[in-house]
Amino acid sequence: MNITGNTILITGGGTGIGRALAEALHARGNQVVIAGRRESVLRETAAANPGMAWATLDVEDPAAIPAFAAQVTRDHPALNAVILNAGIMKSEDLKAEPFDLATVEATIATNLLGPIRLTAALLPHLRAQPRATIMTVTSGLAFIPLAATPTYNATKAGLHSWTESLRHQLRDTAIEVLELAPPAVATDLMPGHAENPNSMPLADYTAEVVGLIERGETPRGEILVERVKPLRFAEVNGYEAVFEMLNG
Ligand SMILES: NC(=O)c1ccc[n+]([C@@H]2O[C@H](COP(=O)([O-])OP(=O)(O)OC[C@H]3O[C@@H](n4cnc5c(N)ncnc54)[C@H](OP(=O)(O)O)[C@@H]3O)[C@@H](O)[C@H]2O)c1
Repeated sequence: MNITGNTILITGGGTGIGRALAEALHARGNQVVIAGRRESVLRETAAANPGMAWATLDVEDPAAIPAFAAQVTRDHPALNAVILNAGIMKSEDLKAEPFDLATVEATIATNLLGPIRLTAALLPHLRAQPRATIMTVTSGLAFIPLAATPTYNATKAGLHSWTESLRHQLRDTAIEVLELAPPAVATDLMPGHAENPNSMPLADYTAEVVGLIERGETPRGEILVERVKPLRFAEVNGYEAVFEMLNG
């Protein structure tokens, strides 16, 4: 992916990692369009970054996605990149009675079906561009689970797998498929997460990611900061010890 000159849609671009990437990519000469459910955070982010565009979207709503994709490509015909960043992370007690299926279904709809549905809706447009990028946002927890958030881990593992198949099926097209797999980063993804000393500062994370993209250091299409490598490669570097470290 070229670090400049794109028109990039970023879901969940009004807060956290999405906002930080939106601002960094905006500053590097990309037209950035941010999307999410809360108009107030989108408006505020766009106002702080003159020229940034925004549009509301609920990726949990299957009916909203095709209409959104049609509108965003009409408004931004040069759109050639999407960062599928919107996500939710909830703790779940699998022994609770009644079992909390609402969290399971919302997490799958947002984190797994959302990126798949939005890719499906944007793919014809992206295939018509001279060069395009689809970037999924998974997690180090795609590769080893945090037992407190079972469905979250499962959606990220599923999205990792789906991304690999997408990349392979698009290998003869002009669409590059990237996967951003963050470690714990200080955002409001979960209560207390931003204050957790084990979370990587957001500015440090963003700077390292942008550097990797700029230098094309994306082996296998994966964007991996140093901090995530113990999780990403847990399978080869001592899975049980990493599982113990995560889950205690
Ligand atoms: N922070 C970490 O430690 C970490 C680690 C690994 C992976 N990640 C991944 O990074 C991504 C960004 O998370 P973050 O840490 O930056 O947390 P965040 O600040 O909570 O960002 C999540 C974003 O997703 C949007 N979103 C959630 N549900 C949505 C929906 N149904 N439709 C549209 N937008 C929706 C939210 O905006 P609205 O609420 O306004 O819709 C919000 O802007 C997520 O996919 C997360 O799983 C984060």
